[in-house]
Formats: sequence, C-alpha cells, structure tokens
Amino acid sequence: MLSQQDLKQQAADAALTLIEPHLIAQAVIGVGTGSTADLFIDGLAKYRGRFRGAVASSERSAKRLSDLGILVLDLNEVQTMPVYVDGADEINIQLHMIKGGGGALTREKIVSSVAQQFICIADESKLVESLGRFPLPIEVLPMAREAVARVVQKLGGKPVLRQGFTTDNGNQILDVHGMTINNAPELERQLNNISGVVTNGLFAIRPAHVALLATQQGVRRLG
Ligand code: 5RP
Repeated sequence: MLSQQDLKQQAADAALTLIEPHLIAQAVIGVGTGSTADLFIDGLAKYRGRFRGAVASSERSAKRLSDLGILVLDLNEVQTMPVYVDGADEINIQLHMIKGGGGALTREKIVSSVAQQFICIADESKLVESLGRFPLPIEVLPMAREAVARVVQKLGGKPVLRQGFTTDNGNQILDVHGMTINNAPELERQLNNISGVVTNGLFAIRPAHVALLATQQGVRRLG
C-alpha cells in the first residue's frame, strides 16, 4: 500500500516525464506551490542547466528553486511558458479545480495564465465528483474583508478568516465553507466581480489541461 507521500511523488515524477521534451535551453517552466509541487521542484533540479529557469507562484517555491540552483525569473521577464505544474486541493473530471489551500492562489492563477498548458499533479484523494467540500479560498484586500464576507454569505457560503495568515501579496484569505458549486466557471466569475476580491480559488474558467493523478494502481491521466 503506497502512502499519500508516495503517491504525490509518483505524480511529480510523471509530470517530469511528461515535460521532459520541453526542457530545452530557452524554456522557462511555471512552478506551483505546495507539498506536491515541492516534490516536482526537487525532481526538476536534476535537469538544471538544460532549461533557462522557472517562474514561481510563491516566495516559498522561489526559495526552494533557487536553493536547488534553478534560476528564478520574474514573470515580467517572460512572455510564454510551455507548461505550469502545480497541485490542487480538489479537481473534478472536467479538470476544474479548487486551489489555494497553501494561500498562493493569486500568483498561481497569474503564472498559470501565461503558460500554454496547466499540468495538475495530485494523489487520487483530490479527485472529487463535485467541488466544494474543501473550503474555497478567496484572497481579499484586508480593508474589504467584512464587505466581501457579507456578499459571500448571501451567495450561500460561510466565510472563515484564515487566522494569522498573510499572503505573499499582503492580503488575507477567507476560506468559504458550504458552497454548492454546480457551475464552477460561473461562480468563479461571480466571485471575481465582488469589489475587494483579489482572486478566488476556483480554476474553472481556465481548467487544467492535463491531470496526473497517482493511484494505488499507477498514475491516471485525465485530459
Ligand atoms: C497552494 C495550492 C496547492 O496546490 C494545494 O493546496 C495542494 O497542495 P498539496 O500539494 O500540498 O496537497 O493551491 O495554494
């Protein structure tokens, strides 16, 4: 029986195999945040020197990359990336995701938007029939926290402030419990339109292109 850690490792290894053809001299790779992304970063270090560098979706990943000798570029220096590789808190069969459990959702959405392909890596526990059991993170400007929370409550959610947490952008996170998510792209748009919301953790308007989900029977590819 493989542990969750083993499964995460398998998903990260599968992503490395998948992106290997893209690891060429000019290539810049988009890198996500979290425990699965950490394993991907560690594996990517073996290819150091074969590709130009990486854009990170958090200060934490940027540090891990540079500690391993991988050049970390500012997104403003980069026009395109062949791939962005990251984990997810939940993913459904349509490859819509909830992300932001680690609080890096805003930079994750921005960096991934510049990549040609979003490759989601996860263990099978992240695959769900419908999104929403995992509380949906929303990054808010601190001054707008209560105003956003009231609108979210009217939409049927129960927002809870992530205590003692500040994002890399100096903002706060509301974790929204109990949301019924029938139409993820529509809810993503709706939440984006609330004044004071920086980003919400639904990645559905632009879902993953490929999901590599590690199971006890091997890595299952969706997309
Ligand atoms: C961070 C994220 C992560 O991708 C998500 O929380 C999954 O993390 P892990 O790989 O540790 O399970 O969205 O903001």
